[in-house]
Amino acid sequence: MLSSLDNKKFMNLKFENFVDTMDAESIFDKTKRLDEVLKSGILTGNEALGMVVLNKVQPYSKIKEKDGFIHGVIMLGSNSYLNLSTNRDVIRASKSALEKFGYGTGAVSNYAGISEIHKELEKRIAKFYNCEDAIVFPSGYGANVGIISALCSKNDIIINDSANHASIFDGCRLSGAQIKIYPHRNMEYLEKILSKIPSNQTGRLIITDGVFSMDGDIAPLDKIVELAKKYNCKVMVDDAHGIGIVGKSGKGSAQFCGVEDKIDLNVGMLSKAPGGLGGYCAAKREIIQYLRLYARSYFFSTALPVNIAAGLCESFKLINEDRAGRKELIKKTNYLKEKLKNSGFDTGNSQSAIIPVMIRNEAILFEMYDKLRKKGVYVNIVTYPATRRKECRLRLCAMKDLSYKQIDKAVDIISSLGREYKIIN
Ligand SMILES: Cc1ncc(COP(=O)(O)O)c(C=O)c1O
Repeated sequence: MLSSLDNKKFMNLKFENFVDTMDAESIFDKTKRLDEVLKSGILTGNEALGMVVLNKVQPYSKIKEKDGFIHGVIMLGSNSYLNLSTNRDVIRASKSALEKFGYGTGAVSNYAGISEIHKELEKRIAKFYNCEDAIVFPSGYGANVGIISALCSKNDIIINDSANHASIFDGCRLSGAQIKIYPHRNMEYLEKILSKIPSNQTGRLIITDGVFSMDGDIAPLDKIVELAKKYNCKVMVDDAHGIGIVGKSGKGSAQFCGVEDKIDLNVGMLSKAPGGLGGYCAAKREIIQYLRLYARSYFFSTALPVNIAAGLCESFKLINEDRAGRKELIKKTNYLKEKLKNSGFDTGNSQSAIIPVMIRNEAILFEMYDKLRKKGVYVNIVTYPATRRKECRLRLCAMKDLSYKQIDKAVDIISSLGREYKIIN
């Protein structure tokens, strides 16, 4: 444990203090400074680092803490909203491809890494969006970085919602394009930016999350599409948390907003509701063809294992036919949200399976996070750099297979801690 003097010193050490190399430091000295803080016993929100999950991620999961303590938790921290990562049919399809193709592809997609199952997955995704073609990347993060940096360059301008995912901002930076940001979902501000773009700057792209990953709300895509048309912009939507969940048949945020056929680049992640791994873009044939050659995270990265692609084909079949249990998930999500609201928590404007529980005090957040896990509820936390510190929160994800009893128990535990820390009365 640290002395109180050291304690004081460390209290002011935030994420950003470990980003830059300080005067007279080597590039590794900041890693030692961070190590000192992490070992000090001061709560930093990273207490689950070193924890492992001991079985399938399901509503009740067993975890081992870094000190070796093994215990069960009600799982409210998984993005496998529809439990497709443990679905019997999905696993059966994956196992059979594993036997036939082995467990690694051994090459990038443009060489020997691509199989008929990868092609089938791309076909299913294209059909899902009623698009001419689709491309599958080996990671979701890599999909955003690759797509944006392939299509945009120094002569272009990209306009982002401030709450877009980090991978989108990283792709924008890598592209070299001019980056503009509008406050979260603020359409007046977006129009202000668009109206000021010089008429000779014609390479224009608006990018937004469909369902926002930290807030669970949905982008006003109807308005965005309208503005894009007025100002001659292209539109890219990252619907990582929307596909399979929102919209009248689970087709995602564009369906929710009634603009299904108006999105130029339909991007999504295969790691959330589809339960696997990877990312994709569905669009016009020539755009996809271009991405296969110019998206460097595709061209220079080994293709997804075939068994993952096979499991995803099955997931997409279930999602496409709206047989993945979306309605049950929505019922349970609404039940969880209502219970939290009735307990007095601020759950923001969530319209999806992501439920923020606003805490707005980082020290309390870190303590609650640690205690919740130990009391048997696993949630994620969000603070800087994913959101502003004063907007820090617990981030809960509903799952289709949660029982109502598990939800009741989790809310009881969260509420009792909320009262202890005076977040609620
Ligand atoms: C909106 C959004 N985009 C992209 C990603 C990256 O996806 P993956 O984790 O599959 O790489 C995530 C995942 O956290 C996300 O929430």
